Amino acid sequence: MTDATAAAARDLAWAAFDRAAEAAAGRSLLSLFEAEPDRVARLTLQAAGLRLDLSKQPLSRETLAAGIALAEACDVAGARARLFGGEAVNVSEDRAVLHPALRAAPGDAYTAKGEPVSAAVAEGLQRMRALADAIGSGALRGSTGERFSAIVHIGIGGSDLGPRLVWEALKPVPPEIELRFAANVDGAEITAALAGLDPARTLVVVVSKTFTTLETLANAEVARAWLREALGETGARAHFAAVSAAPKRAEAFGVDPERVFAFWDWVGGRFSVWSAVGLSCAVALGFQAFEGVLAGARAMDRHFREAPLEANAPVLMALAQVLNRNGLGRGARAVTPYAQRLRLLPAFLQQLEMESNGKRVGADGRPLPRASAPVVFGDAGTNGQHAFFQLLHQGTDVIPVDIVAVRAPMDGPADLHRKLLANAIAQAEALMIGRREAEVRAELAGRGASEAEIASLAPQRTFPGDRPSTFILLEALTPETLGALIALYEHKTFVEGVLWGVNSFDQWGVELGKSLAVQVLREWDRGAQGAHDPSTAALIADLARV
Ligand code: F6P
Repeated sequence: MTDATAAAARDLAWAAFDRAAEAAAGRSLLSLFEAEPDRVARLTLQAAGLRLDLSKQPLSRETLAAGIALAEACDVAGARARLFGGEAVNVSEDRAVLHPALRAAPGDAYTAKGEPVSAAVAEGLQRMRALADAIGSGALRGSTGERFSAIVHIGIGGSDLGPRLVWEALKPVPPEIELRFAANVDGAEITAALAGLDPARTLVVVVSKTFTTLETLANAEVARAWLREALGETGARAHFAAVSAAPKRAEAFGVDPERVFAFWDWVGGRFSVWSAVGLSCAVALGFQAFEGVLAGARAMDRHFREAPLEANAPVLMALAQVLNRNGLGRGARAVTPYAQRLRLLPAFLQQLEMESNGKRVGADGRPLPRASAPVVFGDAGTNGQHAFFQLLHQGTDVIPVDIVAVRAPMDGPADLHRKLLANAIAQAEALMIGRREAEVRAELAGRGASEAEIASLAPQRTFPGDRPSTFILLEALTPETLGALIALYEHKTFVEGVLWGVNSFDQWGVELGKSLAVQVLREWDRGAQGAHDPSTAALIADLARV
């Protein structure tokens, strides 16, 4: 097929999808259940230990069929094959995107742009295991002979959010090795991360793919000074490790080459938790737990590669997203994990989805003909219920919700867990069924409200309903289910990028602000102000005195 024929097929499939979405726009979710008695069974999937119920999404038989046809016309299967085959799918940077290679089964042979990578991955994992085991057993100790009891992980964005999520989800309470994080260049965070720790028992792990990131290097310098003050320059070196795709820069920073853990340019920052970026977690949780996370992601990779499109969890989640975003004009999505341990999932997904697909031009540089990534936000349930759920239920925008819940209780009394689960189920139901005005009126009348009161109160107490959600259930929160959940969202994000026609693996939009910040700093250092708009110039002048 020529490029022009493929583009024409895509346009036709999008037009058919838009028509199907328009026809479905007037149909309520409840009417879909009436029209499609097999809906729950058909739209409930099992994937890598996760149970996904997409039946409360506006995927009717017709929109789903149009969505599958769209996925075929956009060649999702071909794009998936190119990704797993190590082709340079990150076209603007001419890089392969091979995070699945980081969690491959022993014996699998991946190549990035034709170069074998699996041996290097296995060697990297072996080095991580050696460090984790040596620290865990006490064979490796600090410069004064004390056992390590804390790790401070310094990194930002993709070098922070994944490890933070994994640690919060799986950490033992109380932990044997405490793991703290510092990302922001606000001194409050590194100060809190170091506070109360004994430098003689602390390992600092600096994680930066580029090893040029301002925030990370600034925090690393603070941590290094803290170590040096207590342990001297030589002693401090034994307490410092680095993870980078630019290992020479880490060495130039003064990290012992023995303690530099490499990864590769074919690992995107926001897809990197499976690499040595997860080192802190591998040490603090133990290497077996880290292997479990990899195994869960591997199971999801298998599902994504092998399940037919119509039963493929990442593909169906992407189609639900595209239907809501493009077919129904919904510009946001909320994520509410009903699991306190997963409370950082929304923050992780903000980077994964908004940095990957928050683009206005396609991979070919042309303006996109339709909207791309929605705003993603959220918080743990039930906390979110007491904050932004008001808007979800009664606001003027319809905002689809991902609800993530865990069947088995992990911490605390089982009774609390039942209450948590009941709330998760109830919110999904309430969002869809709503509450009719007639019912509210009857109730108010029954309570003796006057006509005037009923006229004013009934609309305020009415819930329009018909607000979609996806319910994702983990049997238990284990390393394996966590790995599968993260990989599910990675692949969903990738499929959306294919449908929207964007390169999901670059992030040029973060560059401008970074370079302007460097310019402001330079101007302050020199005491001279460059050319700026009047508002910026006034701020620069004012804050120069700080
Ligand atoms: O925010 C931009 C970004 O480049 C992210 O993509 C990346 O995860 C983060 O900065 C950190 O970059 P690095 O790992 O190179 O320090």
